[in-house]
Amino acid sequence: MERLARFGVSLPESLLEEFDSRIESAGYKKRSDALRNLIRDYIAESVWEKGTESVYGTVTITYDHHSHDTAQELTALQQDFGHIIICSTHVHVDHDHCFEVVLLRGSSEDVKRFVEGISGIKYVHSTKPVFTVLV
Ligand code: NI
Repeated sequence: MERLARFGVSLPESLLEEFDSRIESAGYKKRSDALRNLIRDYIAESVWEKGTESVYGTVTITYDHHSHDTAQELTALQQDFGHIIICSTHVHVDHDHCFEVVLLRGSSEDVKRFVEGISGIKYVHSTKPVFTVLV
């Protein structure tokens, strides 16, 4: 396990009270745990914005099963982005809907281009990207 570093932070009391109240509602037992996660989120956001560093992520896609073109276009897009796709899972939800989750690892620029590609396909109902960095 990595060594922990301690640091002091000065901030207005009211800001700290508001922060403590909100992290308690969110289920945090310790301020350090909340800060650690916030710092990771900030780093992940920064990596995402920069574009060149590597991210891990998932994209959740739902689409109309009856549109043959949609399924074909999704497959073609995944083929084009094979270098960043770890794997995908497809679920036939019901008579009309398909649900797919794609696991990705690559530069955030490539991941963004992949997500934009999905968003541009007709009859795709939702594309929800979630990403993280390993820090
Ligand atoms: Ni299906």
